[in-house]
Amino acid sequence: MFDSAMDDFVNRVRERSDIREVVSRYVTLNFKGGRYWACCPFHNEKTPSFTVSPDKGMFYCFGCHKGGNVFKFISLIENISYLDAIKLQAERLGIDLPSRKKTSAELKLEQKQKTLFKIMTLAQDFYHNNLVKTAAGETGRKYLEARGITSGVIEKFKLGYAPDSWDALTKVLQVRGFNDKDLFDAGIVSRKRNGAGVYDRLRGRVIIPINDINGNVVAFGGRIVDEGEPKYLNTPETEIFSKGKLLFGLDKANRAIISADCAVIVEGYLDAISLMSAGVENVVATLGTAFSDSHARLLTRYARRIILCYDSDEAGQRATIRALPMIQNAGAEVFVAIVPDGKDPDEFVRKHGKAAFEDLLKNALPFFDYKLQYIMSRVDIFSVDGKARALRELIPVLATIKDSSIQLEYRQKISAALVLDENVILDELHKFLDAAEKRLAKKINPVSENPEAKENILARQAGSSIIKKAWYEGDVLSYVLGYVPMETFTKSHREILSYLEKCTEMGKHPNDLSAAEELSEAANAELSRILASHTVNFSEADEQAYTDSLKVMRLVYVKSQYAKVRQEIEESYNSGDEAAYLQKLQRALEIQREMDELKFA
Ligand code: GTP
Ligand code: MN
Repeated sequence: MFDSAMDDFVNRVRERSDIREVVSRYVTLNFKGGRYWACCPFHNEKTPSFTVSPDKGMFYCFGCHKGGNVFKFISLIENISYLDAIKLQAERLGIDLPSRKKTSAELKLEQKQKTLFKIMTLAQDFYHNNLVKTAAGETGRKYLEARGITSGVIEKFKLGYAPDSWDALTKVLQVRGFNDKDLFDAGIVSRKRNGAGVYDRLRGRVIIPINDINGNVVAFGGRIVDEGEPKYLNTPETEIFSKGKLLFGLDKANRAIISADCAVIVEGYLDAISLMSAGVENVVATLGTAFSDSHARLLTRYARRIILCYDSDEAGQRATIRALPMIQNAGAEVFVAIVPDGKDPDEFVRKHGKAAFEDLLKNALPFFDYKLQYIMSRVDIFSVDGKARALRELIPVLATIKDSSIQLEYRQKISAALVLDENVILDELHKFLDAAEKRLAKKINPVSENPEAKENILARQAGSSIIKKAWYEGDVLSYVLGYVPMETFTKSHREILSYLEKCTEMGKHPNDLSAAEELSEAANAELSRILASHTVNFSEADEQAYTDSLKVMRLVYVKSQYAKVRQEIEESYNSGDEAAYLQKLQRALEIQREMDELKFA
């Protein structure tokens, strides 16, 4: 996967990384029963099921089954790739990145991205010049002026105008030597239906460049001038643009967001542009897509407080309610600023100014208060049914509030709002938490009435014990796999066992780092689970479990053989092959004997 300088580098970073210390940056760990525990940062829970085993360098969550090594943890929590997680950790530890040769695929991708960046920058210049310098830009200039957008803002955001032409931009770029495929891959042209050639995707629209975090133009939003459908036409996702991971304005707002430790999220580009030009600088907008977990994690890297300021229409309120838990799960404090009289932030700030908008932010409602208000305005709280419905929606949210004094305050608020005794609310809360705990317990240790499912669980446990043993003593593998053939194990277990075999062959001890490189995501999580579900090292009890597990797995294997032989017996009987028939019968008896022995051993 990496060249040797890179291997060296990764090893050095890994050696100096303490998974416990890294995880502690994000969650509080408690030591219990030989391991560290916390409430899982990757899903919502009340009782800790997330564990860290520092000696093995691994984490595992029994609730959501995420697991892996320190780099996997960083990549999940920071929402970055595995390789970027290594780099980030290196940076934190002050270890320099090695310079290395790039693979030809990497070079090709880089080349392609460079071309796309170049095209986008040229397109931006074309649109911008068109807006500010040409007669064709008159329509755009008038529109922006009418919306109160100054020339300073036009320059800052490099706003543009796409002339109402099928090929003005296409021609300019073709003359510059770009081919149709590159223009298409950049997203700025569409293919003609008959397949011959391309044409400008955005025509007769005001152009809003969309930048990545480094300020490179990666896409354009095109707003229709005045009325019409669709209001916005955007360039599609490309090799340099992915909407779900990008927030409009973040390249300009990130410093302000960091210094205020607070980010404001609005729905529209023009809301963000309008607010920034009014001097509210810590603003970003989603790109017409729903707010996602990725957005939440991206933002929480810059600020711990996030204020949602969506349009106050029904759609905006629903989007707010949807986004709230995602942001809360990403670990930020969430507030909702409400723009009065159905206005959007853009209209509001233009009419009332910066100070008035900042007041709205100051008066933003905490997550729970907003949710309470939202629900109260939608159910008939004077009916029994309405109260029950409101409570059903509020209790799960109440359960996410960890601070007990704040929780008490909200219980009182619900009690007052719904005219319900506080004890009723507390009762419901306990019921909810108990049920949640039971659900989790079931997930960790599913008790099933179905015997086949029970057997599968048993086989998975047995496979786990064997893997645990082989992790410490790779030499047992040849014996194990002679006794219980590979095919008997589950897919993930097969993968792990092959990996352990390979380690033994190469005379290397398995570790979290090579496991992360060699194993699939699922197998890696399973390995973390196996290593986490035992306390430190290999105990007497583990040894016993291993011996028993070999028998269990052998039984699983033998049973499958038995089924096969039964089938063969039937076949030879039907075909009249007596010799084969007798031989198979003999084999079936042997297997039966072994099965009995194993069961009673
Ligand atoms: P104005 O109406 O010009 O003030 O724009 P706005 O930015 O306030 O847009 P609005 O609040 O109506 O919509 C919010 C965001 O949703 C926009 O900024 C776009 O990103 C996206 N959006 C709105 N309408 C469309 C559309 O018709 N197509 C697409 N693809 N996106 C849209
Ligand atoms: Mn608007």
